[in-house]
Amino acid sequence: MRKTLPMALLGPLFALSATAQAAWTPAPPPNLPFTKANVIAGARFFADHCSACHAVRNLRYNRLTSDLGIPKAVVEKDFMLPGGAAYLKGMKPAMTQAQAKKWLGLPPPNLSHMGRALGSRFLYTYLTSFYWDPKRPSGWNNHVFPNVAMPNILAPWGGIVTKSGKVLVPGRESPKAYDHQVAEVVAFLRYASDPSVFERRELGRYVIGAFIVLSILAYALKKDYWRDIHSKHSDDAAGDKAAQGKSAKAVTKT
Ligand code: HEC
Repeated sequence: MRKTLPMALLGPLFALSATAQAAWTPAPPPNLPFTKANVIAGARFFADHCSACHAVRNLRYNRLTSDLGIPKAVVEKDFMLPGGAAYLKGMKPAMTQAQAKKWLGLPPPNLSHMGRALGSRFLYTYLTSFYWDPKRPSGWNNHVFPNVAMPNILAPWGGIVTKSGKVLVPGRESPKAYDHQVAEVVAFLRYASDPSVFERRELGRYVIGAFIVLSILAYALKKDYWRDIHSKHSDDAAGDKAAQGKSAKAVTKT
């Protein structure tokens, strides 16, 4: 009885929290091919909006030229927006650490390794899971990162929704176009955490080609070695037969 009473009280509470959780489910990310064009589109959006706060410290601006083929002049004009950005240095944020601490409560993290550390699926879910929460200092909260310090800077494109998913202000983009745009930013973060990915893919073709040529050569060499062994073997066998014939004759003679 002692045990059943609290359980009887807690039961409906558990049921309530279960229904509250069931009300929100993350949307699966769109199936965006991981191509240079999509990464470049994501990089443009990132440079225009995310690098106000975030650094991608381990990705030098010149990699955008060498990996993605964006001309240096375009990188300087469209990507190196924060003051003090240098072509041969990592992508820096516009906001200083001190300003970020004052305005947001903590410095926004360097996003160089987020693609690898958190994975594309989580990043996509995180960026599309903000909801309006007037109790938070910024007015924003997040289903997968409760009490997050980052404001939902994607709201103009994706709209403003409540915790239960009710649309308060629709976004300026269709849900499909918005999903595509977020997936492009995620593709950029994936590339940023593994910048040699496209170079590796191109090299991969030559490496496989070289292996095929090597396999053909190795096979030809094997055939050549075994040709000698086979012919020696058949010579020996013929010799043995002849010897056997001789000794058989010798036996019948005696
Ligand atoms: C106004 C400043 C600001 C802008 C603009 C901003 N962020 Fe953030 N972001 C933050 C802060 C602050 C945090 C740290 C949140 C925390 O720890 O509570 C953060 C955290 C993150 C994280 C880490 C989440 C985790 O699970 O650790 C990712 C990823 C991220 N931001 C991506 C982005 C992307 C992509 C954009 C552009 C679309 C962007 N941010 C724009 C301030 C910003």
